[in-house]
Amino acid sequence: MNAARMAYSAKRLCMPPVPESLFLDGVRVVTAYCAGLLPSNSGESLYLRPFLMGTQPDLTVSASNAYEFYVIASPSEAYHSGNMRLWVEREDARAAVGGTGDAKVGGNYASSLLSIGRLKERGYDQSLWLSPSNRQSIDELSGMNFFAVIDGTIYTPALNGSILEGITRYSLIQLAEGLGYKVVERAIPIDELLEQIASGDCSEAFACGTAAIISPISVIGDGDRGYELADAPGPVAERLRQALLDIQEGRSEDAYGWMHSVEPVV
Ligand SMILES: Cc1ncc(COP(=O)(O)O)c(C=O)c1O
Repeated sequence: MNAARMAYSAKRLCMPPVPESLFLDGVRVVTAYCAGLLPSNSGESLYLRPFLMGTQPDLTVSASNAYEFYVIASPSEAYHSGNMRLWVEREDARAAVGGTGDAKVGGNYASSLLSIGRLKERGYDQSLWLSPSNRQSIDELSGMNFFAVIDGTIYTPALNGSILEGITRYSLIQLAEGLGYKVVERAIPIDELLEQIASGDCSEAFACGTAAIISPISVIGDGDRGYELADAPGPVAERLRQALLDIQEGRSEDAYGWMHSVEPVV
């Protein structure tokens, strides 16, 4: 799925998609050579970042005719493993209607940085981005997808062209359904969610991504008000995080075929 997402993102930017076999070879070779750097604590990982860049020396606004594909890696501590304080970003947008929000593109992160600077001054950790089409429904965080638990059902924003389709999002939906939870993908209006947090109908919200797996959300700030989530970390987030970690760390059966073995190079 990561290879397919990179190919999709490349096509969106008129870059030649990296063939899946080359992508997988790159990931395997870098992992094999970094075997000695693998952290041993549960929840820590070797973070891999494949990327593609145009290298044609040219000033025109046109697709490059030369590209380089890299895979870099770093041992990573549990990323954002504590509770997160989110801030509803009502001013800026990370993605545009018809833009590149659903592709993994450097520019998407660049446009999120100003917001992060502003919210840090207010004591928050991450922006909660709204859809550029209506500035009302929740899209995602700058580098993670969003989930909320309302009256026992798990909700996540439906993919809409401006949300990046997270592979952890996909995995958690599979796992949650397998564990018997009802999962609903639909537009989530921010004002509705804030009311549900205030009334206690929504007791739990979390964000997910490859590096963090799941980060519980303790408060969502909007204007001068902070909406505190009663459960952070909540039971659903804890259960899903453990279920995914159990597969990744070999404690439970890989019923979905997500694991690939790599022989270390020493
Ligand atoms: C904008 C954005 N949303 C969501 C995610 C989560 O995606 P994944 O679960 O594939 O790591 C990422 C991670 O790179 C991201 O950059």
